[in-house]
Amino acid sequence: MGRTIAIVNQKGGVGKSTTAVNLGAYISVAGKRVLVIDLDPQGNATSGLGIRKENLGASMYDVLIERVAMSEIILPTEVEGLFIAPATISLAGAEIELVSAMSREFRLRERMREIVDLYDYILVDCPPSLGLLTLNGLAAADSVLIPIQCEYYALEGLGQLMQTVTMVRTHVNAGLEIEGVVLTMFDGRTNLSQQVADDVRGFFEGRVRVFDTVIPRNVRLSEAPSHGQPINLYDDKCRGAEAYRELAAEVLGE
Ligand SMILES: Nc1ncnc2c1ncn2[C@@H]1O[C@H](COP(=O)(O)OP(=O)(O)O)[C@@H](O)[C@H]1O
Ligand SMILES: [Mg+2]
Repeated sequence: MGRTIAIVNQKGGVGKSTTAVNLGAYISVAGKRVLVIDLDPQGNATSGLGIRKENLGASMYDVLIERVAMSEIILPTEVEGLFIAPATISLAGAEIELVSAMSREFRLRERMREIVDLYDYILVDCPPSLGLLTLNGLAAADSVLIPIQCEYYALEGLGQLMQTVTMVRTHVNAGLEIEGVVLTMFDGRTNLSQQVADDVRGFFEGRVRVFDTVIPRNVRLSEAPSHGQPINLYDDKCRGAEAYRELAAEVLGE
């Protein structure tokens, strides 16, 4: 059965979508069948995987309001074995429309039921908030992966995030595990990056796995989305590519 990993951090710009796209790509390069579910109305994972949002018919919004089945919106990508359930700005409406719905936090989990066994890994790219969409991601997930940017305020908000995970375990999804924390946008030239990395490892020590792999700040990683390609297609040799390949191996337990 497939493993569903929600990629969560309520801060924007920490590398969630970059991780969903590129970790997903290298897990499929390793021979697994992978689905990325875009749960962010900004649709960055969608465009990052080469889907033109203007031309889309149905998307995650239509799935969550139960207008279409999940299987009807899933698209193949340029990477063999990698698929995307796309999102557009319309998804912002679901957050509002679902507020009064029954079992609103379980909607994604229910909608995923028909497809969950078709993939080895499902990565859910969550929006930068702890609102209803992220709650749906956490309710549907086996585990949560937390990207943390090596920046000054990195630790801020982590307490709230950990409280949310505890709350979800109590009320919504008792089995939710923490897959791990991944340090992103590490800049080896600055003391700050090293300091933040040390602080984050200290904060989680003995409680939560922090992956050995650190994702460097790498301009190729930021260029790839504008070409609609994951990094394995855009520049397989750059340092960012190497890092996501290593992260995939760690997640796969290799
Ligand atoms: N390791 C990295 N090196 C350089 N740029 C990065 C890296 N990771 C992400 N970025 C860029 O930073 C911005 C925010 O990343 P993104 O993955 O969209 O964050 P989030 O999904 O958490 O909001 C994007 O422009 C992305 O291309
Ligand atoms: Mg994002």
